[in-house]
Amino acid sequence: MTHQHIGIVGAGLMGHGIAQAFAVAGHRVDIQEPDPDRRAKIVDLVRRNLQELGLDGTAADRIRPCDTLEDAVGHADVVIEAVPEDLGLKQRILVAIEAAAPPHALLASNTSVIPITRIMEPLRDKSRAMGTHWWNPPYQIPLVEVIQTADTDDAAITAMIDLLTSIGKMPVHVRKDVPGFIGNRLQHALWREAIALVQNGVCDAETVDAVVKASFGRRLAVLGPLENADLVGTDLTLAVHEHVLQDLDRTPGPLPLLRELVASGRLGMKSGAGFRTWTEAQQAEVHTRLATHLQRLDSHERE
Ligand SMILES: NC(=O)c1ccc[n+]([C@@H]2O[C@H](COP(=O)([O-])OP(=O)(O)OC[C@H]3O[C@@H](n4cnc5c(N)ncnc54)[C@H](O)[C@@H]3O)[C@@H](O)[C@H]2O)c1
Repeated sequence: MTHQHIGIVGAGLMGHGIAQAFAVAGHRVDIQEPDPDRRAKIVDLVRRNLQELGLDGTAADRIRPCDTLEDAVGHADVVIEAVPEDLGLKQRILVAIEAAAPPHALLASNTSVIPITRIMEPLRDKSRAMGTHWWNPPYQIPLVEVIQTADTDDAAITAMIDLLTSIGKMPVHVRKDVPGFIGNRLQHALWREAIALVQNGVCDAETVDAVVKASFGRRLAVLGPLENADLVGTDLTLAVHEHVLQDLDRTPGPLPLLRELVASGRLGMKSGAGFRTWTEAQQAEVHTRLATHLQRLDSHERE
C-alpha cells in the first residue's frame, strides 16, 4: 500500500500511540494537540517509546505536531479523532473534521464505548465515517475494532481494514454499532461479575485477580472463549450454563460497591486506593510487570 497522509486529533495516551503505529509503517502523520506543552513533547515521546522497544527512533520524525485541526486534517487521506470521551466534544470535533478534510478522507472516532452512530449524527456525509477502536498501548496491542454503522459504505470499511492490516495491525469488522463494540462488552461483563463477587463477600479483590491471572487468564491469550467452549464441548458448556447463569450478576447499572468507592474518593492507583490499596512501589511494580509482558509478546511476534 502506498504511504498515506494520516490526520489525528488529540495527542493524549491514545492519539500519540496511534501516530506512532502509522509513522513506524512509513506513513506521514499530522497530529493536532491544543495543549502546548503536550504538543511540544509528542515527537520526543514517540522517539523514546521506539528506543525503549529497541526500534529506530527516526520514525518519530514522520510525525508533525499541529496547533489547529485544519492544519492536521487538511491533507489527510484518513482522520482519527482521539479526544476525551465526551459525546458533545466528539460531535463538534467530527463536524470540524468533515469541513476541513478532503472529500475522499476516511473519518474515524477512537471512542471506547460511545455508539459511533451518535458521534457521527451531525455529519452531512456519514458514508465515510466509522469507529476504529484501538487498545492501549496502540503500538503494542495488535487488535483494532473497525465499527460500521448503518450509514457507513462497505468500501470505506474495506479501505480502513486494508490500511490497518498493511501497518501490521489485526483489524476486526464490527458489523453492528453496539455500545462497547466487542472487546469492551466482554471485558466489562467480566468486571461486573468480579465486583459482584467482592460486594457479596465471596472473596476479596486480591483473590478475584489471583483467580483470573493464575487460571483461565493464562489461556486467554491463546484460546478465545468460544474456541474453549468447542474444546470442552458445547454439551458441557450447556450443562455449566444451566447451573450457573441464573446466579450471575445481572444488575442493569454500575454496582453499589463501585459507586461507593468513587463517592468516597477511592479512585484506584491515582488516589492510593480503589478495590485494593496501592503504595507507590506497588504501583510501579504493576506498570513494570505490564510493560515487560507486552514487550515480550511484541518481540516474540516480531521474531
Ligand atoms: N486510554 C485508553 O486505554 C483508551 C483505549 C481505547 C480508546 N480510548 C478512547 O480514546 C479517546 C482518547 O483517550 P485518551 O486516553 O488518549 O485520552 P487523553 O486524555 O490521554 O487524551 C486526549 C487528548 O485530547 C486533547 N484534546 C482535548 N480537547 C481537544 C480538542 N478540542 N481538540 C483536540 N484535542 C483535544 C487533550 O489535550 C489530550 O491530549 C477517548 O475517546 C477514549 O475513551 C482510550
